Amino acid sequence: MSLKLAVFSAKSYDRVYLDAVLKDDYPNLCTITYHSFSLSAETVPLAADHSAICAFVNDTLDAPVLRTLHSTGVRAILLRCAGFNNVDLRVAEELGLFVAHVPSYSPEAVAEFTIALLQTLNRNIHRAYNRVREGNFNLEGFLGITLHGKTVGIIGVGRIGLALARIVRGFGCRLLASDPQPGLSEDEFRREYGGELVDLPTLLAESDIISLHCPLTEGTRHIISRENLSHLKRGALLVNTSRGPLVNTKDAIEALKTGQLGGLALDVYEEEGAYFYNDHSQEIIHDDTLMRLMTFPNVLVCGHQAFFTREALTEIAGVTLRNLEDWWCKRVCGNALVRGGEVVVEERVEPVRI
Ligand code: NAI
Repeated sequence: MSLKLAVFSAKSYDRVYLDAVLKDDYPNLCTITYHSFSLSAETVPLAADHSAICAFVNDTLDAPVLRTLHSTGVRAILLRCAGFNNVDLRVAEELGLFVAHVPSYSPEAVAEFTIALLQTLNRNIHRAYNRVREGNFNLEGFLGITLHGKTVGIIGVGRIGLALARIVRGFGCRLLASDPQPGLSEDEFRREYGGELVDLPTLLAESDIISLHCPLTEGTRHIISRENLSHLKRGALLVNTSRGPLVNTKDAIEALKTGQLGGLALDVYEEEGAYFYNDHSQEIIHDDTLMRLMTFPNVLVCGHQAFFTREALTEIAGVTLRNLEDWWCKRVCGNALVRGGEVVVEERVEPVRI
């Protein structure tokens, strides 16, 4: 009998890539049930009779959902994403669940999108696109800055932060990075990336552009808040392609209103779970903070799409099914977060240094 896998928050592209990898590489591994809605306390009963579930960034995997999953027979949780801030790993450990993620599918895809967002915001391409389509070729209001020679501050130099560092170096920017546990020494960072590892206050004070690439933990939640925003170089641009709650949105709005923050480009948003990945164009959006953000000409919001390339989807589907096979065949799975009743990857909770 083959394994049954329930996939939540499934979009057409998830089906296409998972089905293709299943057919080509794991033809006898499992049968898949796709659910277009997200995993939550209401939808969790639909996982009954499945041994494994597959979830994405905005699915709920808190203690009650994990306990229900376990009680209905689910034993493995496959995250088809890198971040795992939405999973209560302690409870998963207590229940003996297996949890695995896709740690790195395409850091370059996210880093390239970060640059796309930054330059769209900086050079007002989003506004130019609309203006030109109406036959208006006026440049008023589109003045940007040349990146060459500017200081870019990267918060978190893991896989994506380093991929961005490589691109930024090509632009001829001065590069600063802050990371409490960088995977390389100051010398290596200087030699290989031409950048300097500094503390957060220095990065905030000296950067013209700041980009967030640290994971969401209790230590990084609201790493960008009123206090830190007040230490920015006036008019600095901020890009967040990491996780929404790294930025206190209300504080960012205040800083945008005073001009302390010169522009904000978001691929992720604090309360994105209610809206992102679905079409709400025929409804009233009740999130006034999100709607206020959209009124600024110097704010750009995308719906968590930095990962969204063909290469990344192929990798995500491949690694997700390999994780399932490793678990099913009792092989050691290098992408496990919790295995054999033990948390393998600890969340790194670092104090926010101001
Ligand atoms: P990674 O684990 O390779 O690197 C994260 C780095 O952040 C590590 O070096 C860590 O030491 C550092 N860090 C931790 N706490 C910090 C702090 N307080 N200040 C500065 N740095 C800190 O992770 P990776 O692959 O680079 O991904 C980063 C994040 O990007 C993920 O956690 C995820 O939330 C987000 N992401 C967003 C995607 C999107 O589509 N928008 C797609 C994939 C990931």
